[in-house]
This record gives sequence, C-alpha cells and structure tokens, in this order.
Amino acid sequence: MTEQTPTPDLSTTAGRIADLKVRYHEAVTASGEAAIEKQHAKGKKTARERIEELLDHGSFVELDEFVRHRTHAFGMENKRPYGDAVVTGLGTIHGRQVAVYSQDFTIFGGSLGEVAGEKIIKVMDHAIKTGVPIIGMLDSGGARIQEGVVALGKYGEIFRRNTQASGVIPQISIIMGPAAGGAVYSPALTDFVIMVDKTSQMFVTGPDVIKTVTGEDVGMEELGGALTHNTVSGVAHYLASDEDDALEYARTLISFLPDNNLSDPPVYDSDVELEITDEDRKLNAIVPDSPNQPYDVTSIIEHIVDNGDFLETQPLFAPNIVVGFGRVEGRTVGVIANQPQAMAGTLNIDAGEKAARFLRFCDAFSIPILTLVDVPGYLPGTDQEWTGVIRRGAKLLYAYAEATVPLVTVITRKAYGGAYIVMGSKQMGADLNYAWPTAEIAVMGGQGAVNILYRGEIKAAEEAGEDVAAVRTRLANEYTYNVASPFLAAERGELDGVIEPAATRVAVVKALRALRTKRASLPAKKHGNIPL
Ligand code: HXC
Repeated sequence: MTEQTPTPDLSTTAGRIADLKVRYHEAVTASGEAAIEKQHAKGKKTARERIEELLDHGSFVELDEFVRHRTHAFGMENKRPYGDAVVTGLGTIHGRQVAVYSQDFTIFGGSLGEVAGEKIIKVMDHAIKTGVPIIGMLDSGGARIQEGVVALGKYGEIFRRNTQASGVIPQISIIMGPAAGGAVYSPALTDFVIMVDKTSQMFVTGPDVIKTVTGEDVGMEELGGALTHNTVSGVAHYLASDEDDALEYARTLISFLPDNNLSDPPVYDSDVELEITDEDRKLNAIVPDSPNQPYDVTSIIEHIVDNGDFLETQPLFAPNIVVGFGRVEGRTVGVIANQPQAMAGTLNIDAGEKAARFLRFCDAFSIPILTLVDVPGYLPGTDQEWTGVIRRGAKLLYAYAEATVPLVTVITRKAYGGAYIVMGSKQMGADLNYAWPTAEIAVMGGQGAVNILYRGEIKAAEEAGEDVAAVRTRLANEYTYNVASPFLAAERGELDGVIEPAATRVAVVKALRALRTKRASLPAKKHGNIPL
C-alpha cells in the first residue's frame, strides 16, 4: 500500500472492497518499475504481458494472486510479494479454454520455491481435470536456492504431472529466458517446446560447471540457446524470432489441437473442390525425370492441405524429414514426409526420432496422419550404427505399428528396403496406400540391385569390351521399370491404387472421409516398451 492511499475502514463493506483493490494492485505491481524496465531492456516482456498477448483479450482469470512464500531462511520473511514468482490462471485462445503459467523473472529471478511450485501444480491439476491444454512460459533461475530440498520436491511433483498428463492434454512450453538445471526437464516432458532467439537458454549444466569438469569453453548461447536447440539437439520445435513470434506460434499451434485425448480436434469451415483443379495439375510436374534430382516436398504438402496452410514443427532439425500440421476439409491432419531436398530424404536417427515423437503425439490426440514417401533408405555409416540407429530407428516402426488413428500413405518416388516398410506401409498398419506412377518400390535401388543380381552380365560385358556404364544403366532401368514398378505392388494389394499426382488432393480428402469412422484398438496392456 502506498503512503497516499488512505487505510480502508475494514468495519464497512466499502472499506473491505477498497482493501481488496489495494491488495490486488499490490499483487499485480509486485515487481516494481525498476525490475520491469530491466526486463524490457533485455527484449523480454513481463510475465503478465506475455499472458495478455497469448490469450484472447480480456479472457484471463488469475488464480492465487494472493499466495505468498512461507520461507524464513536468508531473511526472506521481510520480502513476501503477493503472487510469488509465477502468474497462473485460465483463459481462452481462439475462444477455447486453456490453462497457463508464466514465470516472473522480476520476482526472485522467477525461481521456483515451494509456493510457486504449488501454484503451477494447482493450475496443471485444473488443466488435467477439465481436459484443456496447458501452456507454460518459462523464465527462471531454477530451483529457489534459499528453499533447498522443498523447491526440488516441487519440481518432482511437476515432472510427475507432466508425465501423467502426457497423451491426455496437449502441453506446450515457451522458453522466454533461462531454464537451467533439472528445470529443463519439465519442458522436455511436454509436447512442444518453443524458444525465443537470443533471449532463451536451456541447459542441464551451465558453462562454468562444464569448464570446471571437462575443460570445455562454451558460451551460454552456443551451449543452450534457441538456435542450438532448434538445429543441433532437437530439444526445441520452433525458433521464434522474438517473443511476439513465439506467442503467435503457440496460438496457431493450439488452433490445430484438440482440448484433450477424449475430444476431437476443432473443425473449421471448409468448402473443398472434389474435381481436379488447375492447381492440382501442377503436381504432375513436381517429380523430376531424373531420379537423383531433388524437389521440395513441402510444395506437395501445400497442394494437399486446405489453403496451403501448413504449420511445420522442428523445421530446422533433421530437415530430411518434414513433420507438421495442416487441415483437410477443415480437419487437422498430421503430415510426415521425406524431404528429397535434404540428404536425399534418407532416414537417419534424428529423422526417425523426430517423426516418431510427432506421430505418437498425433495418435494420442486423434489426429489422422498423411505420410508422403520418397526415401532411398537408411543413411549408412559407422556414426549411425554406433549411435544406435537400430535401437533409435526402431522408434518410428514402433510408432507406426502402434498408431490407431487413420493412416493414409502416398508414395511419390523412392520407397526402398526397410525405409519402405517403416514409412506407413500397409503391413505397418496404414489404412489406405497410394502411389504415383513415378514410384519405385523395391528392396533396393536399381544401381545397387544390378551390382548384386547381374555380376555375371557386367563381368561378361567388361570382358567383351562393351561400354560397362551403359550396360549397367540399361539393367538398372529394366530393374526399376519391371521390379520396382508400383503396378507390381498394386497387383499384390500392397497399394490400394496408383494415382495421377494431380488426383492426390482429392484422393486424400476422400480417404480421410472414408476413415472418419475407423475403429482400432491395441491389446490390453499396462504400457508397451518402446525402444528408447
Ligand atoms: C533464488 C535466484 C535464483 C535462484 C536467480 N535468482 N536465480 N534466486 N534462486 N535459483 C535471483 C538473483 O539472486 C537475482 O536477485 C535475481 O534472481 C535476478 O538474477 P540475476 O543473476 O541478477 O540475473 P541474470 O544476470 O540475468 O542471470 C540469470 C541467471 C542467474 C543466469 C538465471 O541468476 C543464475 O545463474 N541463477 C542461478 C541458476 C541456477 O544455478 N539455478 C539452480 C539450477 S538447479 P536480486 O535480488 O539480486 O535481484 C535447479 C535444480 C532443479 O534448478 C532440479 C529439478 C529436479
């Protein structure tokens, strides 16, 4: 209360209402002007400003604004701001309910002590109970040092809730400042991590500890900045240019997601054309004549989803596979597509893990999957073998085999070997499988097959002084046209049809319509044991 404010007369109703207003004012201004200016000077918004921008205007309902810490250690009993170091509450995004928490760096560095932990736990419990997404905005020095084990214990309770809520409600973390130590593991357990470029960092052990223990010299930004986690580690799903961009991305992401695992994703008005359009016909020219020439798979995706709107997640990590959300007939669909433009679209550990986690999210939340296949195989090499491509690559197999949502697959070009099987093949559980006439489906590519199948012919050609390269090319082409032909797969029912590229959008619309009533379930079990 300021000196100018008269002390309210608590013996009257008016006085008590005035007292409430004074206290509320204290709560929302607890940081003080200087701390707010310091926050702004770093290019960061305050916890309340972030909530205001994330939620629909005027929708925020705050919880626990009068909570205060109970610590006496280090003279803290003399500084007990209302609300402690986190703002929590409920609100709406695009008119749909969500729960939020936003750590307040201007109060005790956003650190998590007993009551800040209790506030987060309460709002998480509310989100789980009511079945709405939870969005956390993190900006914190981590466990409150003055509160010791009590603070650590609250993190444990948060991790447990993150885990139990996984697959029940969507969980999104927006990292808007430091997230250090074990505190990074709450975001890691959530479904999507958005980081703000230059002003957010995540690491388990900081630069000083690393220097002491390993002798490595690394700066905070290089170690755990947004660029690092979006490109190198794969911890983050979106590199936001600033806080506005991060909050906008979260709002857009929410628009694709259901409230919880028992509700369907939102349906938007849509009036799709069921005839092949001129725009559709452009797909006929996407695949180059040369099988080694790349093309951008996102242009195919944009031709299939409504209005070309595709929200990619993890675009900067493992770019050899593209994952993200679009809508078909106004309904959310998750897209998984090999990207021939990056590493020729080969599968490696990072691509497998990226796609597997995305697929499992979609499966948990009733989002059908469209798989676009153009994959020459797994990336060979000791690096991949020794870092566990067997164990880690198996995650994608597991994810497809376990999925019960509608699965539609379109093979646009190469589908070789194990990579054919894993990328949404019929035997892995896909419901409707199509291929373009440009598809090549076989155990291996033509050149590789020729080396094994036609050793004798090639040797004979060599001995006869023939043009060996020409013989190889002829044999490889014969193999591709005859053995790798999509019509062979169609003949065996491995495909449900071979379609003109221009017909893809309409085929996908009709396939997803046909699968809306799909029912599938897995055998009863406590849980599976996905290779980790
Ligand atoms: C209490 C903290 C705090 C913390 C920061 N502050 N971190 N108070 N507990 N963990 C306080 C500071 O004392 C300071 O208070 C204010 O917040 C702002 O901090 P500054 O250091 O001035 O800010 P800045 O220079 O921007 O540096 C931010 C920072 C640094 C990088 C986060 O504060 C820092 O290194 N803090 C400690 C990080 C850490 O090691 N945390 C424990 C991680 S282990 P005044 O009053 O001066 O304004 C962990 C375990 C979790 O979290 C386990 C889960 C299982």
